[in-house]
Amino acid sequence: MGAVSAFSLNRTIAGLALGALLLTGCGSSLDENGGNGSGDGRSDGTVKIGLLVPLSGVYAPIGEDLRDGFQLYLDEHDGKLGGRDVELVTADEGEGPQTGVPAAQKLVTQDRVTAVAGVVNSATALGLRDFFDESEKPLLIANAGADDITGTRKSDYVWRTSFSNGKVSAALGPTVAEEAEGSVYLIAADYAAGKEMVAGFRKTFEAAGGKVAGEKYTPFGTTQDFQPYLSAIRKSGAKAVFAFYAGAEAVSFVKQYKQFGLAGRTPLYGTGFLTEGGVLAAQGTAAVGVKTSLHYSTQLDSARNKEFVDAYTEKAGKSPTVYAVQGYDTAGVLDTALAEASGDSGKALVEALRGIGSINSPRGTWKFDADHNAEQTYYLREVRAEAGTAVNTVLGELG
Ligand code: PHB
Repeated sequence: MGAVSAFSLNRTIAGLALGALLLTGCGSSLDENGGNGSGDGRSDGTVKIGLLVPLSGVYAPIGEDLRDGFQLYLDEHDGKLGGRDVELVTADEGEGPQTGVPAAQKLVTQDRVTAVAGVVNSATALGLRDFFDESEKPLLIANAGADDITGTRKSDYVWRTSFSNGKVSAALGPTVAEEAEGSVYLIAADYAAGKEMVAGFRKTFEAAGGKVAGEKYTPFGTTQDFQPYLSAIRKSGAKAVFAFYAGAEAVSFVKQYKQFGLAGRTPLYGTGFLTEGGVLAAQGTAAVGVKTSLHYSTQLDSARNKEFVDAYTEKAGKSPTVYAVQGYDTAGVLDTALAEASGDSGKALVEALRGIGSINSPRGTWKFDADHNAEQTYYLREVRAEAGTAVNTVLGELG
């Protein structure tokens, strides 16, 4: 099912579930915890938070990193947010809205969480927007970059601690226009995020004088053999490539790009998800030379980042990723909001989110903009082999 039709279906599901939520009299009677059933905490002061991340499908490694980052923050803060013990209810987003939307609805209507954090896939985020808006529950999106979520479909109840697709790719356009010695081929996973990543890139790339050699969207989650697409790239005569892939698809694409003989001849650019964390470890030296834009690298030279990299590596047994940072920062944002809010109704919590100010993150300082999106610095990164290990070296700040 395409993102658009999945979205209309999920609007219907969201509507039905909201109806059920209202019919249960949520908010008007005491629940099993002695609360009022609106997720307003529990009589023992514990706050229940829902964490919705993919634990299955192509984005499962992203979900795990996000969860590990969130958990690290909790571990560093005695398992508390806003001074209260946290009961974390984790649910599997799966591969998109078909699984992610009902899982989120269960967190709100059955588990009665105070807020939901997570969501990796843009199509899931788009499918959830109305449900959270209408049920007046805070949703803190810790990855999914769907542009409209903090644009035309902005909601008082939906906040994003990560990025918007169009912005992270737009940051790279002028650099590629300057560096590419001819036209550039655009290729991405065929769903909301892929389309928006390409559109954002194309806008600033063309504005800076860049020319497009061709554009292709590959079936999301099912493409394993990129050979036919790599042949088309070669045939197009493109002098460079811009790509959006993440998770398992990023591993296959970059490895096959090298095997096909394009690496080293036709420079590969992308958003940083193409070479991030476990993905980069699996690509190994096949990724050397790939240049990307992202709001994080393990190589960022700040005391805050070094402290985070050490703590995360010790706990998780692997290097952190942008997803881990986003999970960590989401827990931090909830910590401040819960501490500041007068009560933990959705209304009180979003009021507190409005007043949050700057966040001192391993990625650098960032804040929410007026549309509830993360306003932050994007970095130009290049994969280099350091002592035999591929890392995302930071070349500088973008735009
Ligand atoms: C998205 O669907 O918005 C998405 C997924 C994975 C990424 C980046 C964006 O790494």
